[in-house]
Amino acid sequence: MAKRTIVSMPGDGIGKVVLPEAIRVLGAAGFEADYVHADIGWEFWINEGNALPERTIKLLEQHKLSLFGAITSKPKDQAAAELSPALRDKGYVYSSPIVGLRQHFGLDVSIRPCRSFAGNPLNFIRRKGDGFEEPAVDAVIFRQNTEGLYGGVEWTDPPEQVRTALETHPKMARFKSCPGEDLAVSTRIYTRAACRRIVGEAFAYAKKFGYKSVTVCEKPNVIRETSGMMRAEAHAIAKDYPGIALWETNIDAQMMWMPKNPEDYGVMVSGNMFGDIVSDGFAGLVGGLGFACSANIGLEVAVFEPTHGSAPKYEELSPSIVNPIAMILTACMMLDHIGETDKSDCIRKAVAAVIAEGKVRCYDMMRMTGRQDVLENGAASTTQMTDAVIAKIG
Ligand code: NAI
Ligand code: MG
Repeated sequence: MAKRTIVSMPGDGIGKVVLPEAIRVLGAAGFEADYVHADIGWEFWINEGNALPERTIKLLEQHKLSLFGAITSKPKDQAAAELSPALRDKGYVYSSPIVGLRQHFGLDVSIRPCRSFAGNPLNFIRRKGDGFEEPAVDAVIFRQNTEGLYGGVEWTDPPEQVRTALETHPKMARFKSCPGEDLAVSTRIYTRAACRRIVGEAFAYAKKFGYKSVTVCEKPNVIRETSGMMRAEAHAIAKDYPGIALWETNIDAQMMWMPKNPEDYGVMVSGNMFGDIVSDGFAGLVGGLGFACSANIGLEVAVFEPTHGSAPKYEELSPSIVNPIAMILTACMMLDHIGETDKSDCIRKAVAAVIAEGKVRCYDMMRMTGRQDVLENGAASTTQMTDAVIAKIG
């Protein structure tokens, strides 16, 4: 088979640290590819007024497959203040490049598996009698990735036409007297096509991998239109999957049930905001950000990224202390996507073996505060963890 080309977007902070580590592991597992570097992140905002340069979009159009590290985003005023002086007051407005990528390429299906590895000291445990039990968690969150509250259709001081349009709804009456500058509106737009696709992908995944249930987690009793549409599509699609139970939960109740009985859940499906919440919640039960991997999948392009951000406070530490496992598991999701499942299985087994053995652990696994001295206190560096995984690949 022709060698693949993978667009490598390390981005900012620890993205630059963990992405090369994952590429090292891919190579050790026998995956051969050409990696082309693409610019993304804060540096390009400062110097070009665009954190997602057009040349990066072109590379993704061409190669369709990408590994992404993390980017740094900062609030509006801070972003404006850091822009290069030559670009100031020229109308540049910062927006998150990863959200931009998801929207530009229609990467509407986000998959976030949260599975516990035996022996991970960060796994969820439950008090039982005088002791405790440690049920295995295996939840896979399907998050609609392009619409909803992250769709970007929002205003402070909405234009007059928007106010007038909103006032056609009777419930807008109580905001009528609010001055524009004191009124912020963020829309939550769902389309039936996107609901259908995310729920369809969730059920197809559940069937393929033998999950017994798909839980649609929304809030249709209150957010009647958007959550209601997701719910309706879930019911329609569930009919094609008689062997898989459709469960429904409200996001608030879900956050209560999740840390009580996380092992009850299999595939989860939600809109953008709730999917983000549920996936972080489950990630916290299986080791947290050092273990949380994700995929952004569109019809043509797919971008794979760890859930964590750029953790800027660790960027300068040398040697680096952050856990590369989230990025390594992210690379496994890319291998799954292109059908190289023998290699992804092999890498996941190697990660599982390192965790089970318990000799090599990054600072997060030892519940230490992240500082350079964690290495003197027995924590593995980023490189040592990667080396340990590679040694198990053999
Ligand atoms: P973060 O995920 O960068 O870091 C939060 C904390 O999690 C860190 O202080 C660290 O203790 C821990 N952590 C993260 N990754 C880890 C790893 N691999 N190993 C061990 N510990 C790890 O989130 P934070 O601090 O909220 O945001 C920092 C920057 O990252 C911000 O600019 C934010 O906008 C951006 N961000 C970017 C994301 C992306 O690129 N998709 C996602 C989340 C945040
Ligand atoms: Mg998040």
